[in-house]
Order: sequence, then structure tokens, then C-alpha cells
Amino acid sequence: MSEKTMITKNLNVTCIGAGVIGSGWAARLLVNGINVTVFDEQPESYHRTNSSFKRAKKYLSQLTKAPLRTIGNLTFAKTLEDALKIPNYIIESLPENLQLKQHLYREIEEISIDTIILSSTSGFKPTNLQKHMKNPTNLIVTHPFNPVYLMPLVEVVPGQARDQNIIDDVQHLLEYIGMVPIIIKKEIDAFVADRMLEAMWREALWLVKDDICTTKELDDIITSSFGIRFAQMGMFESYRIAGGDKGMRHFLDQFGPALKWPWSRLTDVPEFNSELIEKICSQSDEQSDMHSISELEDIRDKNLVELQKALRNNRWGSGRILASYEKDLFDEQSKQAEKASAQITSDLLITYTKTIPPEWADYNGHMTEYRYLNCFGDASDAVMLHIGCDKAYIEAGNSYFTVETNIKHLNELKVGQEVYIETKVIKGIEKKLHVFHMLRNKEGELFATGEHLLLHVSLKTRKTCPASKALMNRMAELYKQHKKIRLPSEPKIIV
Ligand SMILES: NC(=O)c1ccc[n+]([C@@H]2O[C@H](COP(=O)([O-])OP(=O)(O)OC[C@H]3O[C@@H](n4cnc5c(N)ncnc54)[C@H](O)[C@@H]3O)[C@@H](O)[C@H]2O)c1
Repeated sequence: MSEKTMITKNLNVTCIGAGVIGSGWAARLLVNGINVTVFDEQPESYHRTNSSFKRAKKYLSQLTKAPLRTIGNLTFAKTLEDALKIPNYIIESLPENLQLKQHLYREIEEISIDTIILSSTSGFKPTNLQKHMKNPTNLIVTHPFNPVYLMPLVEVVPGQARDQNIIDDVQHLLEYIGMVPIIIKKEIDAFVADRMLEAMWREALWLVKDDICTTKELDDIITSSFGIRFAQMGMFESYRIAGGDKGMRHFLDQFGPALKWPWSRLTDVPEFNSELIEKICSQSDEQSDMHSISELEDIRDKNLVELQKALRNNRWGSGRILASYEKDLFDEQSKQAEKASAQITSDLLITYTKTIPPEWADYNGHMTEYRYLNCFGDASDAVMLHIGCDKAYIEAGNSYFTVETNIKHLNELKVGQEVYIETKVIKGIEKKLHVFHMLRNKEGELFATGEHLLLHVSLKTRKTCPASKALMNRMAELYKQHKKIRLPSEPKIIV
């Protein structure tokens, strides 16, 4: 078991404060199989947690093709005492008020002295947060970004009182849930990202106040220029390229002196009078009021999913972390499948195991049609892996394409059923691989059959070509083993 899995097995986390950020934390943890208890003094926060959780499930399953972890249990606690019965970690996301947070930590320590507290604060130094604690090393800042269930970065900021083991554990936990923890070396107010953002925000307020541009024009300028660029390369890498062939040195030579020109307003803050507030709010209404906040959240989440998928495909920026998170999910699934298939006796290949999750149900309460293709597709992928058509084989330029599918639905498959697929290799010669899958429950009852014809192709020419000798030998072995085993119905695909 990896270190990451070890620390997260049966983990319980309590989220205190379930507003925008706390509910996002709860959602991210739940979809990663961690049990969450939520405590918030406002009843509407429970509704918010449920809706963040729904969003997280929806958008995370679009973000990755990998099977998501079994969802953790969600509990709403009525009192702080109840909320603190079992957690390994507490995530504090109270409003940004130092005294309120310090008071909560004292209360927590009276009930549970040893629990580790992670604060979502956007700017308080951890040493200030730790000030009245008996066990200050138990508090670390983990500053996330909204929406927590989709944004990868967490600034991890330890205070002067620190324990490296706790920092390491927190780092592993965050990586396990697919995040990018960056340990900030020295604590400063507002850490790194919010310092950058505040400088821009101040500048933006001046530009709108002075009628240089409207809120919409300013947002268009960001999203059509450095905004889109920064999603894939940060400031230093972008400016390195901007320096042409001579890179960063040329960039500094050329634009360094301009820094002394008084272009930006630095720490000058425009007065937040009613005139400025009215100007910003009315321009913002004109810009975005045609969408509700929830619609804007959906638009944002869809875009974040697609951007991150593009970065994952290019293994670049935060996409590297997404790729490594997906690999963990696939590895976990194949370990579970191995374990489950070891308990099933069959003379055929066991190519798939799963407990049908609630989100796979249709309006009739049974597994929706396209999920059958999903299961049979994964089973065919498992056959490919079994005969040696693995990642290395595909990267070397060959693979299989499915050219024909036949699915028969024989019985109602309900949510929560544990199923497996056993597969007969009907034919496996040269360019052709013909497989017959049978989807059964633990008792062996048959729910559906799926047949696939796959053709071996060269990924360079995109044309069919014979499989390698090793693959053909492996297919021949399977064919021999499976030959005498009778199928529940005649194959439909004529090869
Ligand atoms: N909103 C952001 O974009 C963002 C981003 C990163 C970090 N943060 C930080 O996260 C923290 C939370 O911010 P938010 O935007 O989620 O605030 P929020 O106002 O949306 O949520 C705060 C929640 O805390 C609850 N609460 C207040 N006092 C409580 C108490 N004593 N016990 C239990 N619950 C209590 C409130 O009912 C509310 O639901 C802040 O420290 C903030 O700086 C916010």
C-alpha cells in the first residue's frame, strides 16, 4: 500500500463552516471516498453542501475517464461536540475573522486536544491563528481556491510552531484528493496567490474608477490575453518566451527599466465610497446579471473541466497532477478488480467488476443503457491488456479499434448490485479480435451480453495490420482455453 493510501484509509474529516469554501472541501473529500462530518451554525449550509457535492460528482466524472472512488459518508452534526467525535482532521472555513477563528480553536482543544486543524484562511499568518492554542503545531493553513472540488492548488503554510510529520501527512492527503499542495517557505500575510491577486484587484478598481474601462472590458482583456495564457504557463515561463530566442535575459533587458515608470498604482487604494461601489456593481450587473450565480458556477465549472483536460492531455502545468491522480484511480480500480476477480471462479477471463453506483441509474431505477457499453468497453480494454496490448504497445504505434458492437439486455440491473463480466475470446487471429462478454451478478445470474469485434490497427497509417507475434500467441492460447465453453446465445457478429 502506498503512503498516500495508508493515510487516507477510513479517514474522517470534519468541516467546520460550510459556506462557499467549506462546502467545496466537503464535496472534494466525499468524492474521494473520505467520510465527512459538517458543522455549521446556519441550516442553509447543509443545502449548500449537498449542492456542491452534486456539482463535484458531476464535474469530476467529466474531468476524468478514471472510475471515481466509492463516495464517503456525509453526516451533518448538530453540535460542535458531535462534530468532533471521530475526525482525523478538522478543516476550518469560518468567515475571515481572526478572533472568531482563534475562539473556535480554543473550543476545539477543550473537546479534542490532539486533532489536526487545517485553516482555509485567505490571509492570516498561521502563527497568529495558533496564538492561544495549547498545541499550536496542530494548526496549519491550507489555503484553497474556489471551487475547491475543481481547483487544484492549495497553499500549505505552516506557522513558527510546526511539526514536519504533520506537514508531510497533510501534503499526502491533499495529493490523494488530486490537489497541488505547495508548501510556502515563510509565512507572510495573504501568502503568495492572494498577494498577486490583490495587486491586480487594486489596479482593476482604479481602472474602472477612472473610467479607463468597464468591468466587462477589463474581464474581456484578462480572459482573452494573459488569463488564458496563465492557465498553462505562469509568469516566468511566459515572459521567458516573450524575450524571444534570448529568453529571460533579453526580456529583463528590454522591460526591466519600464518597472521604474509609474505605470501601476502599487499600494494606492481607491476610496471605497458609495459612488465607486455603485459604479462597479451596476457595471457588473450589466455584464453578468442575465445569468444566476448558479448558472455562472456551471459555466465556470464546465470551462475548468475542459481546460484541465486539455492540460492533462498535454501533461503540462496542473494537467500533470491530474494525470497522476487519474493513474492512482486506475491503479486502485485494477487492484480492487484483481481482488474481486480472484474470488470468482470461471474458466473464462474475468474482465470487469463493479458495484453499480447510484448515478448510473435511469428514471426506471436500473442501469441506464450507455453504461452497459461503458462496462463492456472496459471489459474489452481488459482483454487487450491481458493479451499484451498495453500502454507501451500502444505508444509504440499499434492498437485495436472497435468496429462492431452487439448488446443484449436480459434482466433488470439495479443500483448497488455487485457485478462482474466474464469474457470468451471467440476469435483472435492476425487483425481480428472477437470477444463475447457476459455481465453477471455474484450469484452468476446473467444480466446482459456484449459482443465486440476489434481490428488491430497501425496508429501511424490508421489502417488495419496484423498484431505482433506475442499478441497472436496469447490470443491463440485464450482461444484454445475458451473453445469448448458454451455461450448463452449464438454470437451475432459474423466474422
Ligand atoms: N470565498 C473564497 O473565494 C475563498 C477562497 C479561499 C479561502 N477562503 C477563506 O475560507 C474561509 C471561509 O470563506 P467562505 O467564502 O467560505 O465564507 P462564507 O461566509 O461563505 O462561509 C462561512 C461559513 O461559516 C459559518 N460559520 C460562521 N461562524 C461559525 C461558527 N462559529 N461555527 C460554525 N460555522 C460558522 C457560516 O454560517 C458560513 O456558512 C475564510 O477564511 C476565507 O478567507 C475563501
